[in-house]
Amino acid sequence: MALLEVKNLIVEFPGRRGTLRALDDISFAIAPGEILGVVGESGAGKSLTGASIIGLLEPPGRVAGGQILLEGERIDHLSHEQMRHIRGRKIGAIFQDPLTSLNPLYSIGRQLVETIQTHLPMSADAARQRAIKLLQDTGIPAAEQRIDHYPHQFSGGMRQRVVIALALAAEPKLIVADEPTTALDVSIQAQIIQLLKSVCA
Ligand SMILES: Nc1ncnc2c1ncn2[C@@H]1O[C@H](COP(=O)(O)OP(=O)(O)OP(=O)(O)O)[C@@H](O)[C@H]1O
Ligand SMILES: [Mg+2]
Repeated sequence: MALLEVKNLIVEFPGRRGTLRALDDISFAIAPGEILGVVGESGAGKSLTGASIIGLLEPPGRVAGGQILLEGERIDHLSHEQMRHIRGRKIGAIFQDPLTSLNPLYSIGRQLVETIQTHLPMSADAARQRAIKLLQDTGIPAAEQRIDHYPHQFSGGMRQRVVIALALAAEPKLIVADEPTTALDVSIQAQIIQLLKSVCA
């Protein structure tokens, strides 16, 4: 069975001067372990496709037709609360700017532990150990010390690794990444792509 199925997706923005149809009949499927890359010119609808899947379309944008199924179950008509639970637990998200995903006021350890404990039944100690392991797995050196640092204390590439660790925190089945390397140096881009590939293997 497909992990994710997008069937005849239509996304519209109702406006004063009529309705703009931004996505018109998009269909694709992703199998477990599969990586699907989406390319297209600016404004083609790549980001909207990702936002629809993770339930973060900005109003007044809305799914006006079609279906989105995760493991065979529709997720395109769920409440914000239900979708928040699926995001993180079943679907991880990675965006262009790591700072949009990180809270500047909290240490990265606190953010990781909170995310882990929101979705997995774990003691604070066990969650912290898992957080350290995630940071190690995503290539953060000296993870046991770095876990108590704040987002501004990391370089851009390291921050994106932290975001990936955060996206992986609750063992999601699917990761939606929208330009995860655009904001990074070319030399770092390849490392992040390699890391994402290894996560899917
Ligand atoms: N809030 C909005 N209100 C109205 N139209 C919107 C809104 N957001 C996006 N659109 C329209 O939806 C279309 C697709 O936008 P989207 O951001 O998905 O493009 P993209 O393929 O990700 O482009 P890029 O490569 O520049 O990131 C655009 O043509 C845009 O005009
Ligand atoms: Mg985009």
